[in-house]
Amino acid sequence: MAYDLIVVGGGPGGYVCAIRAAQLGMKVACVEKRDTLGGTCLNVGCIPSKALLQSSHLFEMAGHGFSAHGIKVDGLAADLDVMMGRKAKVVDELTKGIAFLFRKNKVDHVHGTARVVSAHEVVVGDRRLQTKAVVIATGSESAPLPGVDVDEERIVTSTGALSLTSVPRKMVVIGAGVIGLELGSVWRRLGAEVTVVEFLDFILPPMDGEVRKIMLRLLQRQGMAFRLGHSVTAAVREGEGVKVTVEPVQGGGAETLAADIVLLAIGRRPHAEGLDALKLDRDPRGFIVVDRRFCTNIPGIHAIGDVIGGAMLAHKAEDEGVAVAEILAGGAGHVNYDVIPSVVYTWPEVGAVGRTEEQLKEAGIAFTVGKFPFSANARAKCNADADGFAKILADARTDRILGAHIVGPQAGDLIAEVSVAMEFGASAEDIARSCHAHPSLAEAVREAALAVAGRAVHA
Ligand code: NAI
Repeated sequence: MAYDLIVVGGGPGGYVCAIRAAQLGMKVACVEKRDTLGGTCLNVGCIPSKALLQSSHLFEMAGHGFSAHGIKVDGLAADLDVMMGRKAKVVDELTKGIAFLFRKNKVDHVHGTARVVSAHEVVVGDRRLQTKAVVIATGSESAPLPGVDVDEERIVTSTGALSLTSVPRKMVVIGAGVIGLELGSVWRRLGAEVTVVEFLDFILPPMDGEVRKIMLRLLQRQGMAFRLGHSVTAAVREGEGVKVTVEPVQGGGAETLAADIVLLAIGRRPHAEGLDALKLDRDPRGFIVVDRRFCTNIPGIHAIGDVIGGAMLAHKAEDEGVAVAEILAGGAGHVNYDVIPSVVYTWPEVGAVGRTEEQLKEAGIAFTVGKFPFSANARAKCNADADGFAKILADARTDRILGAHIVGPQAGDLIAEVSVAMEFGASAEDIARSCHAHPSLAEAVREAALAVAGRAVHA
């Protein structure tokens, strides 16, 4: 029996594509080599890290935040086994949820490593599956660094850092990107001394400059140490620990840091196992090249998600999965890359969408800035959680919102309001004139929109 579509990879891009295609009437199989569905995100990425971020945040609150509310805690201790068990349970339930959705939508889950022979044949073990089309959604893997040999025990990627069996005394994180800061936060909150080594002289490279500055200050205040403008040239296991060689990028003497655990988090590279038989066009970094309809250079073979590059985010992959399924069903699938929110789940969180001040300046676009601090937001004050700000960037001529950058409590949820507004082509005044509940954190977003025209009421 031939399929209408075989999706290779069961991560957020692949499994969403498979479900949407089945909803549209196609006979679909999704091939996944892991035992469980959900890809990196559900198994060893977004979901387990957010579970640990939540647990470690509560631990930190109990230790350092509750006293301000008049709550006394004696004998506080973290039980890592319970924490890891809860994380595993969350992952288990969510991955089983996808298996349920596959059954509900009659998607065949084929377990094994796929070898894509052509647009019409995929081999999995001793099975040869026939199909009308293929979508490749094989994702990405941690990028290696010469001189740093990952063993997932002492020198780990995010995968190992999500399953440590004890809290390291000293942890060195290579890379001040999203993974480094999120997982560095988890282990610092649980008691590790964390030093982040970053090649650039700032953290969170794609973020707005003001966001980068305040986040550095806040993370330093929490006790995270940074070696900016430095790179790691070697990390070598020595006894029970690791010796890390760190050198200034501008030149100068190398220094050695001792660590129990080293986390390598310098980005991710495309993962394209099982595609060797195909002559797929790749860009210089190995990402599969596709057109606006996710077609590769081989007719009938499409690709989505991390393996095609761009923002390496689960929700971007999901949207591409929906779009390509709709295109294959004869519809007009489309992804608006100008409005892909991104969130850093540190505390406070960062939520961002659209363009940064730096990008607008570089593009020569005249813009106005509206900014409002959470220290002037009533709900944030009530919560004793008032670090950060909401900032909206609008076109100086039309007032259309071009970007928003929020550092603060629940910033990852607050950014959704601006994303929807941008999708509708809203102006800052549209948000400014929309009634927002009081007292709520979302009022900070409204005040930032008011501030675009110099009309903030509470600042
Ligand atoms: P990243 O690209 O966010 O950050 C990597 C950092 O490492 C950069 O700051 C870079 O300058 C630095 N770096 C590169 N080479 C270095 C070297 N030799 N020495 C020191 N620093 C060096 O990559 P990351 O954090 O590994 O994340 C990978 C992907 O996963 C990202 O695309 C990210 O968007 C995604 N992700 C998203 C999350 C979220 O949405 N909350 C959570 C975790 C990951």
